[in-house]
Amino acid sequence: MSDSRGSIHGEWSSRWAFILAATGSAVGLGNIWKFPYITGENGGGAFVLVYLICIAVIGIPIMMAEIMIGRRGRRSPINTMRVLAKQGRHSPHWKYLGWTGVVAGFLIISYYSVIAGWAMAYVFRSAGAAFEGATADGVASIFSELVSDPERLIAWHSIFMVLTMIVVSRGVASGLEKAVRYLMPSLFVLLLLLLGYSMSTGAFMQGVSFMFNPNFSALSGEAILIAMGHAFFTLSLGMGAIMVYGSYLNKDTSIAKTSITIALADTSVALVAGLAIFPIVFANDLEAAAGPGLIFQTLPLAFGHMPGGTLFGTLFFILLVFAAWSSAISLIEPAVTWLVETLHMDRVRASVYSGLAAWLLGIGTVFSFNLWSDVTFFGKTFFDLLDYLTANIMLPLGGLAIALFAGWIMVRGTVKEELKLQHPRMFQLWYLLVRYVTPVAVIIVFISLQG
Ligand code: TRP
Repeated sequence: MSDSRGSIHGEWSSRWAFILAATGSAVGLGNIWKFPYITGENGGGAFVLVYLICIAVIGIPIMMAEIMIGRRGRRSPINTMRVLAKQGRHSPHWKYLGWTGVVAGFLIISYYSVIAGWAMAYVFRSAGAAFEGATADGVASIFSELVSDPERLIAWHSIFMVLTMIVVSRGVASGLEKAVRYLMPSLFVLLLLLLGYSMSTGAFMQGVSFMFNPNFSALSGEAILIAMGHAFFTLSLGMGAIMVYGSYLNKDTSIAKTSITIALADTSVALVAGLAIFPIVFANDLEAAAGPGLIFQTLPLAFGHMPGGTLFGTLFFILLVFAAWSSAISLIEPAVTWLVETLHMDRVRASVYSGLAAWLLGIGTVFSFNLWSDVTFFGKTFFDLLDYLTANIMLPLGGLAIALFAGWIMVRGTVKEELKLQHPRMFQLWYLLVRYVTPVAVIIVFISLQG
């Protein structure tokens, strides 16, 4: 079986192009919007510690596995799984793993786009100087006014989805690379600026201690599941997004180094975002457990009180939208590549159909913040349920299956050849992690939740 062929969907121009695209996928709303609010809801330090452990022991090995599988298969995740399983003389039913990934990505983008829409709305709030001299109450009411208006949310959600589908329909490699190269570092610089502001609030140490002082009595079994789920979410793992990107990767790139670089970049963004936000929370007597609105109710206070805040705030939200956009692309890419390969649709049509379907589902999330805010399933709103189901259940299970696939289904020699780790010890360590540690860890977290 030939493995030197390229992907029919194109290839990255270099190792850096891949790193940038994968970092663009990883760094997004998950780091800046979700990480702070779930940290706040789950008591801080101990939660952050579990999250960091999950990144190191589960996230990095699974990222390596996904890239390795993708580069070996060179197809959409569904077809890659089918072909590689066959090569190992296993059942082609492994392709259903590719399927669940497509479904998970599709469900996630439906609400991701709605939240990205909030960030877009905030570009204009900020540019209109709405945050100047703002008070905590003022900022809270700007937020609740926005989310209580389904029409505005749908408008922003639609614009974001269209922007995403435009890039996807043209093929992900073009354009993305340059944009990520400049815009991601700029976003990081603005986060550092916010960090500087937080240091001046007088509550900086309180924020640091909230994030890094573990109080294990505050850690529930469910919090552990959420921390683990977030490790998958933030690194874009468990549904084939990184696998698809890996399928466009050239043969000589070191998968291990690349994965570690991406994970470090992603984690730094999340930690800096948290360190910027929590001091603002404590300095203004806000609620750390405020939920999904947290960054929208804290960061405007910083921009409202720093010199040049209107400009910096506008830039920050523009860059946040951009970060969300480079992530959203990878959420829908597995579905689009599959439609192209299997139903022989052209890319534009495949993008339009999948975007339209995800857009429709997103309306449910829009309504869950207003018209349907009282409608709950298992005590969760539509948005909460979708988020919980995807991030905390589908992605870890997908990751578990990916680990099993790399560790037990693929031929060991193939895996070793594809990873090309320089030290044999490194291979043994990684193999141990994906064969035993990761699957057992995921299963234990699930089981302990039942108890
Ligand atoms: N990692 C992105 C974020 O943190 C979201 C994301 C993009 C994602 N692609 C994914 C999450 C694939 C899970 C799977 O914002």
